[in-house]
Amino acid sequence: MQKREYGKSLDFLLEMHGIHKSFGTVQALRGADFSVKPGEIVGLLGDNGAGKSTLIKIISGLYGADSGSFLFKGHAVNFRRYSVAQARRMGIETVYQDRALGVLQPLWRNIFMGRHIKNRLGLIDVRTEKRITQQLLAELGLGGDRLTPDTAAGVLSGGERQGIAIGRAMYFDAGLVILDEPTTALAVNEVDKVLQFIRAVREKGKSVIFITHTIDHVWQTADRFCILSHGKTAGMLERSQITFDDLLTAVRKGFDA
Ligand SMILES: Nc1ncnc2c1ncn2[C@@H]1O[C@H](COP(=O)(O)OP(=O)(O)OP(=O)(O)O)[C@@H](O)[C@H]1O
Ligand SMILES: [Mg+2]
Repeated sequence: MQKREYGKSLDFLLEMHGIHKSFGTVQALRGADFSVKPGEIVGLLGDNGAGKSTLIKIISGLYGADSGSFLFKGHAVNFRRYSVAQARRMGIETVYQDRALGVLQPLWRNIFMGRHIKNRLGLIDVRTEKRITQQLLAELGLGGDRLTPDTAAGVLSGGERQGIAIGRAMYFDAGLVILDEPTTALAVNEVDKVLQFIRAVREKGKSVIFITHTIDHVWQTADRFCILSHGKTAGMLERSQITFDDLLTAVRKGFDA
């Protein structure tokens, strides 16, 4: 990362301008703009194939962009040197819906996968990791008799898995948690729980990017909305300045564009 040379505003945790990304002949992003402020939930909306997942994969370090600028905390991110490991070091944690957790692994291993606490002998400190997992479960309201640190993740419902993945991001003190369709395919009461987990991240002063096709879910949580349409940003809307109908209209316009 090199020091930013223009502007001084740290109003934004993350700012992206003119992001392009192609996969062969497919132009997934064609000059997308995006931003996230500290302590806000941004809803990322748009039709299938609009480029939402591609954009967050660039933020997560999974893909480099072909061109465009990316500032994080006012520092320019160099795509050539950016990676998932670097994103994590910067406090960016992404929860992908289908692979939020390893289903065969116990919860404690899922929490610490790739980031184990080691003792003086260099061995995994299982006892400490289980104790922290127990605390996390209690904080998330997922404790009780049914779920323990030794429970295999596959036993959990979809909403519970999202909760554990969000809790893991919070434990590792992520400043930005990215959720790609966390409420898709969940039962109604599960959705409410996940929306609560998302709000809890904001209450700790952290930011969230929330991708969904269910406008109602982002309307209930987000502070700002970004609408992507065919790889471009069709609008950034402040929740406080619009009605639900305004949002619906804007999203539909993006679909038709
Ligand atoms: N790894 C890839 N290889 C080739 N094409 C890709 C790849 N990832 C995405 N694309 C293409 O880029 C475009 C944008 O896809 P992306 O997954 O970002 O859309 P999305 O907005 O997340 O859609 P959805 O709402 O369906 O998840 C699509 O045309 C998609 O087929
Ligand atoms: Mg997607």
